[in-house]
Amino acid sequence: MKPARRFGGAVRVPGDKSISHRALIFGALAEGTMLVRGLAPGGDCRSTLACLAALGVTVRNLDTAPGPAVAVDGRGLGGLREPAQALDAGNSGTTTRLLMGVLAGHAFPVTLFGDASLSRRPMRRVTEPLTLMGARIVTSDGCLPAIVTGGRLRGITYDMPVPSAQVKSAILLAGLHAEGATTVVEPVPTRDHTERALATFGADVAPAGGGRVTVTGGRALRSADLTVPGDLSSAAFWAAAAAAIPGAEVAIDGVGLNPTRTSFLVMLERMGAAVATEPVDSGSGEPSGTLTVRHQSLRPIEILPSDVAGLIDELPALAALATHGGELRVTGARELRLKESDRIAALAAGLRALGADIEEYEDGFHVRGGRPLAGGEADAAGDHRLAMAFAIAALGARRDCLIRGADAVAVSYPGFFDTLERLCQ
Ligand code: S3P
Repeated sequence: MKPARRFGGAVRVPGDKSISHRALIFGALAEGTMLVRGLAPGGDCRSTLACLAALGVTVRNLDTAPGPAVAVDGRGLGGLREPAQALDAGNSGTTTRLLMGVLAGHAFPVTLFGDASLSRRPMRRVTEPLTLMGARIVTSDGCLPAIVTGGRLRGITYDMPVPSAQVKSAILLAGLHAEGATTVVEPVPTRDHTERALATFGADVAPAGGGRVTVTGGRALRSADLTVPGDLSSAAFWAAAAAAIPGAEVAIDGVGLNPTRTSFLVMLERMGAAVATEPVDSGSGEPSGTLTVRHQSLRPIEILPSDVAGLIDELPALAALATHGGELRVTGARELRLKESDRIAALAAGLRALGADIEEYEDGFHVRGGRPLAGGEADAAGDHRLAMAFAIAALGARRDCLIRGADAVAVSYPGFFDTLERLCQ
């Protein structure tokens, strides 16, 4: 990778990964056929598609106006078929945890497994509440592989010990299949794509508020056609690059602007960038619009534990930005150690290898961006967001940098490096 002398332009990013998983799963559980456009193209959503296909869901690629779409023939609540083989969730925590919730409502055993990274990630946070609802789940010491045997479920009220949209979603998906009401109480708000999908697909869901959401089981879902907005967590890397490089400005069209995902933009502004959003009415239940970010001189900021859940996936992009100037101190982010890699250790090791001044904490990190990076070799540790973060940091280095394992970007952003090259011209 070469350092960047300029950066900017207009760009669209791939479809939102979180929304794509939910669209496919809700489409599979609904009655009728769903047409969905703009699905995330990366490996994670392909894992969800393959698992749903193994569970008897028919998925077709269509070339209909106004552009390619995927059609999902729903099988109705509780209508999935016992798969002939174990389900491979690849690298995807969202696939695993959301499907566990769905499978809890189906009375047959299913084995779920994943790659080495996914096999290290904690699953008890999901299996405990699902077991309380009546599912039987056998894990490998709290991790994958796991065997889920669902059946008749009863609604529960669950106070989540960890803020996690995946856990919340798994419980609500199980709640669709349960007798009575299922309520999830969050310690701090997390992304609300599942709540929005429940409303869009006509579930019996009480309006979310005050950190509680309640779904009552048994009501059939009706299919809905959807357009998935661009992924703000992917856009975050272009936004960070534009904020980092003098003279840079980037405009990202059609990107998701769901307020449970936009804390990152607030932090970007606090770090000094000029940030503007122009929402459009997409009619899909998910806010989206154009995001413009322009460089201005960088300032130090601190991210507090209460901010972390709202921007957990964007912390690597913010850390990369801080290597260009300003300063970033993050605490209360222990969850980062449980992502596709130990994102505190691997982020600190990679940025340090590129020449950054970064201190690792047990629950966070501190980057001081006083001087340009010397450049070097960083290891993405098989983690898509770290590969992209290191690429953005490397734009400010004094010499060429090498990112090992950069192909991990394919998990969420297959064309990342081509787009990077274009934006640097
Ligand atoms: C996601 C929730 C978050 C996030 C992940 C996607 C989702 O994970 O980090 O990339 O789609 O629900 P947690 O639920 O583990 O916080």
